[in-house]
Amino acid sequence: MIDVQHLTKNYPGGVTAVDDVSFSIEPGEIVGFLGPNGAGKSTTMRILAGYLSPSGGQVKVKGMDVTRKNLEVRQCLGYLPETCPLYTEMRVGEYLRYRADLKGLSRRHRRTGVERAMEQCGLLDVQKRLVGQLSKGFRQRVGIADALVHNPDLLILDEPTIGLDPNQIVQVRKLIRDLSSAHTLLISSHILSEIEATCNRVVVMNQGKILESASLEELGHRWSPGAELTLEVKASAPEVDKTLRSLADLKRIQVKQDGAWAHAELLFANDEDHRERVFACIKEADWDLRELHARRHSLEETFVKMTGGGEEV
Ligand SMILES: Nc1ncnc2c1ncn2[C@@H]1O[C@H](COP(=O)(O)OP(=O)(O)OP(=O)(O)O)[C@@H](O)[C@H]1O
Ligand SMILES: [Mg+2]
Repeated sequence: MIDVQHLTKNYPGGVTAVDDVSFSIEPGEIVGFLGPNGAGKSTTMRILAGYLSPSGGQVKVKGMDVTRKNLEVRQCLGYLPETCPLYTEMRVGEYLRYRADLKGLSRRHRRTGVERAMEQCGLLDVQKRLVGQLSKGFRQRVGIADALVHNPDLLILDEPTIGLDPNQIVQVRKLIRDLSSAHTLLISSHILSEIEATCNRVVVMNQGKILESASLEELGHRWSPGAELTLEVKASAPEVDKTLRSLADLKRIQVKQDGAWAHAELLFANDEDHRERVFACIKEADWDLRELHARRHSLEETFVKMTGGGEEV
């Protein structure tokens, strides 16, 4: 669906925003596009959508070169830019019909396309309202409806939930999940829980280069420090420390006393599931158990590790 080979983008003033980047996206994939501020995500997305020309390399969307077949590429995908330029003095329905016209839809396709996009984005009730009088969340929905109006099978959404309140984030996330059944999606976001909830693969950029392109699972394994387990048993902390310390593959153990209970945090050298082994040990020691929990390394922790916590201006 998308094939990027050795893509480079230099802005005037000597900024190399994208530096020899290659990746591809298969039809039906839902890909999260991650990276710190200034990593080059929006630049790459604008090039993919045909709104910015590359300085070097080749970008193909559905087999078409974005430079040579610019118009065709723009027509076959839906793009929500980082700052969506809406005509604030137009009414929602009117604006979407206008956008459908610009995208070359016939009168009949325009009507059904606009209706469908408004329904998908929950805009039917506000179709007569002026765009400029809508809340930010609703304006964002208009931007997404605009990307959807010609029913493209590829959607490129640059931070679709930026600036939305938690309720609206949940709604837009649901919309994205609904769209994912029939579309290929590339979504950039800094809300990593959102990427975890909606995407099956991530492409991570940093300082213009690709750091990772992997499924969330692969990424977790690759960057995990090892399996982490927490437990609470009714026993004294030194006793728990002494008993559990003998577990094979244990890298680190910390035990704190909390009244009659000992709270232990264990880190193992590998990423396997150690719960049964630890439970057997607890049973053997005949301790009362009130918690045993394998902690998953979050995408947020992985991201900070991958990108070294740094940022570009
Ligand atoms: N029009 C421009 N002219 C010059 N430099 C630019 C321009 N647009 C972006 N840049 C620079 O290119 C680099 C990449 O910017 P880009 O907007 O692609 O990053 P991003 O990953 O989308 O960041 P963010 O997470 O903050 O949206 C940055 O160093 C930025 O300052
Ligand atoms: Mg951006």
